[in-house]
Amino acid sequence: MSAVKIADNVYWVGVKDRDLRVFDIIMPTRYGTTYNAYLVKGEKVALIDTVKKGFTEEYLANIEEITPLSAIDYLVVNHTEPDHSGSIIELLKRAPNIQIVCALAAKIFVQNVLNSDNNLTGLKDNAFIELGGKTLTIKLTPYMHWPDTMMEYLAEDKVLFSGDGFAAHYAGDAIYGDELPGEIDLDHEVHYYFDTIMRPFTSHIRKNLVKLEELDIKMVAPSHGPLFRNQANRYINMYKDCSVDKAEGKNQVAIFYASSYGNTKIIAERISTNLNRAGFLTPVNDITACDKMKARELIEESKAVIIGTPTFNGDAVKPVWDFVNLFSTVDAKGKKAATFGSYGWSGEGTKLVSDRLAGMKIKVMPEPFRAKLVPSEKELSEVDRFSGEIANFINEG
Ligand SMILES: Cc1cc2nc3c(=O)[nH]c(=O)nc-3n(C[C@H](O)[C@H](O)[C@H](O)COP(=O)(O)O)c2cc1C
Ligand SMILES: [Fe+2]
Ligand SMILES: [Fe+2]
Repeated sequence: MSAVKIADNVYWVGVKDRDLRVFDIIMPTRYGTTYNAYLVKGEKVALIDTVKKGFTEEYLANIEEITPLSAIDYLVVNHTEPDHSGSIIELLKRAPNIQIVCALAAKIFVQNVLNSDNNLTGLKDNAFIELGGKTLTIKLTPYMHWPDTMMEYLAEDKVLFSGDGFAAHYAGDAIYGDELPGEIDLDHEVHYYFDTIMRPFTSHIRKNLVKLEELDIKMVAPSHGPLFRNQANRYINMYKDCSVDKAEGKNQVAIFYASSYGNTKIIAERISTNLNRAGFLTPVNDITACDKMKARELIEESKAVIIGTPTFNGDAVKPVWDFVNLFSTVDAKGKKAATFGSYGWSGEGTKLVSDRLAGMKIKVMPEPFRAKLVPSEKELSEVDRFSGEIANFINEG
């Protein structure tokens, strides 16, 4: 597809990857995706982002419909993931005088992509790129979704170049969201992108969105999928709704367990009763019966998550590992956790889960609680002591 004018002297020069069916290993993409790039022409010329390797020739041809490569002054790198940085090297080969501008935090990333530091400027928040008649204002948006991420606001045309923010994977013929065929649920696609790519960074997103509030945005131009003109703020508002702090004001400790013969379950219920008496909401869930989406919500809503596993074959059981893996799909860093479980003779499962959680930057109680086979009265009174320690651990901030 050729270059498309999106505002006065502003062009889409991206490419469409219609056949892509899985993005970044983790994300099935029914409608392919686009790698959007933009050209902004003032007296000077800025190119915003490149495209994935393999699409370089089509991308360069799109640019050349508008301007010779030698006329480009700046390449603005919104973030260095290879779907957007994959053509930088070839671009610089053909136009070696281009100055690369990126977030200050992205400098090292760009250097690691190019394995050189030629013509590279790192920018601070609210820096300007003056093109003469067109001005790009930099908004650093770290962790949307890499640490190096930034957006630009083009004041003259009220366009926000938002990088992966507000993106969706869709590569049809339409360029704008309001031109999509009726069967495409764009709200769903933008939400799906948020849920898969952005959700682990919601606390950063909350802060970044505040920076956009002062801008009068008429068009959002993301790095994947449709551009938004008539619904420019719709998806900014969706991101706001999706990134609220669900744990705020909720004194909740979620308890999750798996249990083959009910031994670990007895401990789960005792901890729940105790923490409930201590003033916490304590939903208890059998991991094997809990929907993954609900489990992720419960992790986000809770100050702490207490996880019970029996030991099978010197390990925690698979459904517990699957549950623990959900922690990296939500913004769980800094939450608290503890583990418990029944075992027969070696009992490694609980400690292995604790260690994995600690590796994911969860604050974990140092010692798991374990009971041998059917918890005895003595062991249940130890559960009461353990519950008190959990309450103190949570309350100590
Ligand atoms: C297939 C299987 C493998 C097991 N492997 C271990 C083990 O390696 N170490 C251990 O301490 N207990 C082992 N056990 C014993 C369980 O941990 C013990 O029965 C425990 O009480 C089960 O708790 P639950 O009823 O909550 O599932 C194993 C049990 C089963 C069924
Ligand atoms: Fe990305
Ligand atoms: Fe991307």
